[in-house]
Amino acid sequence: MKAVALTPGTRAIRLVDVPEPAIISPDDVKVRILRVGICGTDREEALGGRALAPQGRSELVIGHEMLGQVVETGKSVTRVKPGEYAVFTVRRGCGECLPCLMNRSDMCLTGRYRERGIWGMDGYQTEYAVDKEQYVVRVPEDLEPIGVLTEPLSVAEKAIDESVRLQSARLPESAAAPNWLYGRRCLVAGLGPIGLLAALALCLRGAEVFGIDVVDAQSARPQWLEHIGGKYVDGRMVSPDKVEHELGQMDLILEATGVAQLEFNLLDALGKNGVYVLTGIPGGDRPLQLDGAELIRRLVLGNQVMIGSVNASRGHFQMAVDDLVRARLAWGDHVARLISHHRPYAEFQAVLNSHEADEIKVVLEWRQ
Ligand code: BGC
Repeated sequence: MKAVALTPGTRAIRLVDVPEPAIISPDDVKVRILRVGICGTDREEALGGRALAPQGRSELVIGHEMLGQVVETGKSVTRVKPGEYAVFTVRRGCGECLPCLMNRSDMCLTGRYRERGIWGMDGYQTEYAVDKEQYVVRVPEDLEPIGVLTEPLSVAEKAIDESVRLQSARLPESAAAPNWLYGRRCLVAGLGPIGLLAALALCLRGAEVFGIDVVDAQSARPQWLEHIGGKYVDGRMVSPDKVEHELGQMDLILEATGVAQLEFNLLDALGKNGVYVLTGIPGGDRPLQLDGAELIRRLVLGNQVMIGSVNASRGHFQMAVDDLVRARLAWGDHVARLISHHRPYAEFQAVLNSHEADEIKVVLEWRQ
């Protein structure tokens, strides 16, 4: 079968022929890949950035945002049946630390985890994939057009879930756990797919959502945000240090730009007892100048929390599926417009090397 593979650390990427995987254990699930999203991580890998080939090999099959259709299951599998739609999670645990042993490899302590399509394990830009039942999440048939958004949404779900849990743990009286976000002022920085999907999850929870980026208000991403009830803030007009003055203080800031300087500048807009959650992974090593004392003063005097959040557990994937169902009920076909471009898999080079005009999310189609 065909697969898109790259040589980590180089720009060499090509279509290869690899053996089709087969069910070997009773808890294996085999899916036919329908489509796989492309994100910043894939593009960074294609530029010779962070990626690792499986042990003993020089090439890695890329792709981690997938949607598939189950074609076969091992004897003991009950979670999915042939014909159903499903996604596999991304990370596989180190098998040594407590979080990994408890199926929370997203919190791995040793760093010896693997990630399909990114780090030491082949991904999903191919025709078929097999994995264990514990890594599969069923996707209802209605979600076929948008199920491929489950993985990027799961990353936002984890960041939001952690923020809410933190608030309810330290403010049990005033931050009733499940609905802490209701009516809260939330700023999403960076309106790529993760930022927009975070905005979607926050809007569904009744938050007042602002999204900041540096593109025209009439362009695709701000327009998508406004349709779900978010307010667009043009960062070229309102600089990060003016956000508080223009919009007021924020209870939650979710950062999805991966631009280190901006990540710290926006702290000015965070209110007392606020949470600042970082999901963007800055590439390169551009030096960053910070007034460390001022940063610490703000955090301490304001009871503020800054957290980093990466990857997602199976539970967050399930939350993502549930929110996609609710989002379709709330906004119908608008949700699918987040996938702005569908391209045949053979066009992987062009898709990885350039952004199309008005692109939000581009996916490669594997069903021929
Ligand atoms: C993926 C995560 C992964 C992270 C770091 C992101 O693009 O969505 O699953 O953990 O990259 O490799």
